[in-house]
Amino acid sequence: MRTAAVLPSSVGLAARMVAGVPERGEPVVVELGAGTGAFTSAIQERLCGRGRHVVVELNDRFAAEIARAYPSVEVVCDHAVRLPAVLAERGVGPVDVVVSGLPWIAYTGAPPLIESVARALAPDGVYTQFAYNWTRWATPARRLVDGLRTEFEEVVTTMTVWRNLPPAMVYVARRPRAAQAAP
Ligand SMILES: C[S@@+](CC[C@H](N)C(=O)[O-])C[C@H]1O[C@@H](n2cnc3c(N)ncnc32)[C@H](O)[C@@H]1O
Repeated sequence: MRTAAVLPSSVGLAARMVAGVPERGEPVVVELGAGTGAFTSAIQERLCGRGRHVVVELNDRFAAEIARAYPSVEVVCDHAVRLPAVLAERGVGPVDVVVSGLPWIAYTGAPPLIESVARALAPDGVYTQFAYNWTRWATPARRLVDGLRTEFEEVVTTMTVWRNLPPAMVYVARRPRAAQAAP
């Protein structure tokens, strides 16, 4: 239920998910639900040693494996709803990109996760979340999109990535209404 996947995401889906990571500067990237690292490796390739990459993963075995495989990634074994505390404890300021591999179940209950993500982002920050095509009309998925539209000025749905099992698409949310001002 918590992993909610039969296979890791494909290279094609990972490329779509990390496209918001800037190719210049020292971006701060937060990854939620890294699993076995499909998006982690794509983010690391894109950062190429720049910036800061924080992973929040609930499963301690996945978290330990990510920490071992990617020594420069700051891995926190915790629930994504604790994101504000996790960032505060590490002195992480406004976040440039949040890449979420979380399943729908992670979005149920309080405190609202999307609101926490929106508050953590810089004004020009980007949030990407994938969804399997066959789940997109289900109530939890529609609720998530409603939440994104409430918290972000722009929510774009990408074309389907057919080379993923199951096929998936990505919600790209920009301009958080409750963005963190730069220090
Ligand atoms: C669908 S898998 C995605 C893994 C990987 N990002 C990928 O695309 O292949 C979801 C991951 O989110 C983690 N997860 C689920 N609920 C979580 C939560 N509340 N906080 C942090 N991680 C969570 C699971 O342990 C799992 O590794």
